Amino acid sequence: MANTHMLELEKVEAGYGQFRVLHGVDMHVDKGEIVALVGPNGAGKTTTLRTILGMTTLYSGDIRYQGRSITKLPTHKRVELGITMVPEGRGLFNYLTVYENLLAGAYTKEAWEKKEETLEWVFQLFPRLKERKNQIAGTLSGGEAQMLAIGRALMSRPKILLMDEPSLGLAPIIVLEVFEIVKKLRDEGVTILLVEQHVKHSLEISDRAYVMEMGRIVMQGPAKELLQSEELKKAYLAL
Ligand SMILES: Nc1ncnc2c1ncn2[C@@H]1O[C@H](COP(=O)(O)OP(=O)(O)OP(=O)(O)O)[C@@H](O)[C@H]1O
Ligand SMILES: [Mg+2]
Repeated sequence: MANTHMLELEKVEAGYGQFRVLHGVDMHVDKGEIVALVGPNGAGKTTTLRTILGMTTLYSGDIRYQGRSITKLPTHKRVELGITMVPEGRGLFNYLTVYENLLAGAYTKEAWEKKEETLEWVFQLFPRLKERKNQIAGTLSGGEAQMLAIGRALMSRPKILLMDEPSLGLAPIIVLEVFEIVKKLRDEGVTILLVEQHVKHSLEISDRAYVMEMGRIVMQGPAKELLQSEELKKAYLAL
């Protein structure tokens, strides 16, 4: 089939029980891209990522992955297909070690079989995690905890990584490090849908971007063009 996107949302209406958050969201991500999803607090960015993984109520619309509708699949099946999220707030097991947290990410059968190899890859990307392999996760610095959250997500061997505000709460210099990591992951073959508050930084490393407000996509296009948009500058870049 021509023009099959890696991930595609079509007229997605979703929310929580009776509370509708997403109102007809159309978006797509192609293999090898970094796509940014930005917008104000409460716009529905996290809800979009959760909806892609089947963690919300989908009222109507379709979500396709590699050309096939996945809306009937439970979350773990979607993860098996290669979709993984690095959740907002990281969701680490604070009383477990770095190593144990990483292993917890390798929970699909295929990922478990490849866990030694994947662990080597993760330690190569994040040497600091290797040094701190036996440290209790709750005692890591903010930056290290974020690396662990990303590392754990990588343990499931994702083809597409949904990242929810990976730079949240980090010092400016560590924020830049996180953006470097995102670029590096893409270079390693992982496609990325990136939700971020740091609009300028995220557009600078992205191929395309979507701007969401009140559950609707209100702007979209090549990231470079959006960076030049007066409307976007006024609303998000404080320029
Ligand atoms: N579990 C839930 N149950 C009910 N409503 C929820 C739930 N999670 C989020 N919401 C509501 O859905 C709306 C969108 O929230 P969402 O977390 O998707 O926004 P966001 O764009 O990620 O915001 P932020 O930038 O603050 O993270 C908000 O009004 C929020 O209160
Ligand atoms: Mg959010």
